[in-house]
This record gives sequence, structure tokens and C-alpha cells, in this order.
Amino acid sequence: MYSEQNVDIIPEKWYNIVPDLPEPLPPPRDHDPENSSIDLLNRILPKEVLRQEFTSSRYEQIPQEVIEQYMQIGRPTPLIRAKNLEKFLKFNGKIFFKYEGATVTGSHKINTALPQAYYAANEGVQEVVTETGAGQWGTATALAATLNGIKSTVFMVKVSYEQKPLRKKIMNLYGAQVYASPSNMTDFGKKILAKDPDHPGTLGIAISEAVQYSLDHDMRYLLGSVENCVITHQTVIGQETVKQLETIGEKADTLIGCVGGGSNFSGFTFPFIKTDAEMIATAASEVPKFSRGKYAYDMIDTAGILPELKMFSLGADFVPKSIYAGGLRYHGAAPALSLLIRKGRIKTDEVGESQSLEAFKIFSKTQGIVPAPESSHAIATAINYCRNPANQGKTVVINVSGHGLLDLSFVRD
Ligand SMILES: Cc1ncc(COP(=O)(O)O)c(C=O)c1O
Repeated sequence: MYSEQNVDIIPEKWYNIVPDLPEPLPPPRDHDPENSSIDLLNRILPKEVLRQEFTSSRYEQIPQEVIEQYMQIGRPTPLIRAKNLEKFLKFNGKIFFKYEGATVTGSHKINTALPQAYYAANEGVQEVVTETGAGQWGTATALAATLNGIKSTVFMVKVSYEQKPLRKKIMNLYGAQVYASPSNMTDFGKKILAKDPDHPGTLGIAISEAVQYSLDHDMRYLLGSVENCVITHQTVIGQETVKQLETIGEKADTLIGCVGGGSNFSGFTFPFIKTDAEMIATAASEVPKFSRGKYAYDMIDTAGILPELKMFSLGADFVPKSIYAGGLRYHGAAPALSLLIRKGRIKTDEVGESQSLEAFKIFSKTQGIVPAPESSHAIATAINYCRNPANQGKTVVINVSGHGLLDLSFVRD
């Protein structure tokens, strides 16, 4: 995995889809122009991250130091042919999967945590703060901060904090301070707890707390998903996949990935946007943002501190069920991804928890890799797709965004 030969697969630039979208990307919008939340981004984001968020350049050079950090955490990640799964499904095409679970933190989230922490440290920032749903993003932030010599604080959605104590332990091991959200650390958290002391928390609330905390303590806030610069960083996944397929003389007919805020799916598929590959974005049925959400401006966070984005959304106050795929509980989806879905370039699917658990088991048993609950949703879509006689003979590539080794407590026999 770490051989010199493979290192050439890591791209030198990130790809920004904005100039290649079928129409201009709707920009972020203030919901209270008197109290501009767009100006607020200047105070909470590292300057370079803010610049990348609003750029329309097609490519961004990846700093050499970040490329070296990518190598340290296991990039390039492998592209693996799932021959046993093909056999199990009696599928006569080919199934490949890009395995982001091979990074040291176990998911794709480290791909953007590293550059964001690197830029923050370069700008003299001492500490960063963020939120986390399932714990994967918090783990990535904690590692990225310590690798760049700075501290980190993480607000973890309470239901995950309680369900996934090992995630908290890893974050602590990397030096992060972790709070269950809603918490007593911010005014917004206190307000929610006063109304409902047992509130399970949502990503929208945790984002509000993390942003509030960064303002109160003059820290910088790291973005886990949804925002365009995050997606740009995540294109290392798709760019590596393009090169890996080329190396073995294969061409993708179909690309499948799961959607929380949209970062792994977009990072995986956007580098293929000019090809004729079919793209399918899988959300959780319990968070039906594509079938029942509205495509309109909505808030990123529940408190409405951050600007509004035009996206498919169920509303920032949507409280999803406590499904095991904590990373798919977010109410919205990235604007560029939402636009491409709206335009019909990207198709969608929704998979429920029991179906995804079945895929989780099938993939573990056939491939020996325990996928993350979130990734298992994409695998479920792929299994259904390959069982459809109309899709025989195709080359299907799945993004397995993470491993599920810390999620096994959910699996019943
Ligand atoms: C392993 C994994 N996959 C997917 C997601 C969904 O996030 P996104 O849509 O931003 O990739 C998460 C979010 O926490 C995750 O941890």
C-alpha cells in the first residue's frame, strides 16, 4: 500500500467541479443580512479554506506537505475487485470497490481534515473545533490536528457518543477534548437541554455548538462535509480511482456511493463527470432528503449561525431516527451534488437500515472487509443493481467510504 510505485497515483491537484457544472452554483445566502453569517465565515475558517470555498478555479495545487501526510495515513487507498461478491451475486460483470477504510482513521474524512488542519496551523492557529456525527469526522480532525501540531475540540452527537465509546477513546488518544452534544459548553446547547435534557442530539445542533464555541474561544472551525472546498479535497478519491482503472485497462459503467452531507460521494464521482458513467447516490430511507426533501435554500446548522445553502434538505430542525449509520443522519446534501441530482446527471436511491445491515453482512462474509454502516448503504444499492438482469456485464465501482470495525455492536446474528 505504501510502495513508491503506488505513490504516483496520488494526484498533485484537487479538482473543483464548479466551472464544469451545467449552471452556476447557487452561492451561500445570508438569512439575516443585518447580521451577516457570510462575514462570520471570515472569523471562523482558516483563510486558505475560505478562499478555496469560494474559488471557481478548476484545480487547486495540493501542498507537498499535505501529499506527504496523505502518504502517512495510507493514500493511495486500494481499488479492489470484489470477485467473491460477484460470484455470490452470480453477476457476470465486474464489481470494484475503492476502499477508504484503509486510511489509518478508517474513513475518507481524513482527506479534508489534513489540509484544513495544515492551513490552520500554517496561519498560526493553536486550536481547532468541530462536530462529529458517527465519530469518523471527529477522529479525522483529532488526528489531523495532532499531526499538524495543534489542539482540537469535538462536539459529538449525543446518541453516537453513547453508542460509540471507542470512537471517543480514539479521539482522546489523538489528544482531542470531546463533548456530547447538546452540551453545557455553549448557550445554544444549554437552551436545548433546558427544554429536553434527554435530547439525542443532531448534526445540525452539534454544528451550531462547534461554531458557537469557535467564536467564543477564538478558535478555527473545521468543515466536515457539505461545503464545496471539502468536496474539492475529497476528489483525491475519484482521481485515484480514475488512474487505478486506467492502469488496469478498465472503464467504469456505474459509480455508487452513500450520501450524508455528500462529501465522499461527490469526491468519488466528480472526477468522472465528463465521462458517460452512470452515478447513483444512496441516502438512508430514514433520512429521505432526495425523495421527500425540498430543493431550496436552507440552513446548514440548526441555530442558523452559518449561511444558508441551496440544497436538497428535510429542514435543519429535522430529527432523524437513531439509525446505526450516524453519518447519514444529516438533513441536507452538498449544493453541487444537489444541483447535479436536480439536473438528472446523478440518480438517487434510498436504503433502509435492515437492507443495509444485510449488505453489511454479505460484504463482510464475501470480501472479508467489514464496511462502515454508511458505506453498507452504497453496497446495498450495488447489490440490488447487480441482481437486476438489465445490468449484467457492467463494470460497477462502489466507494466503500470507511470500515465498520468500531460499529459491530449493532450487528445481531
Ligand atoms: C464512513 C462514512 N461514510 C459516509 C459518511 C457520510 O458523509 P459524507 O456524505 O459527507 O461523505 C460518513 C459521515 O460521517 C462516514 O463516517
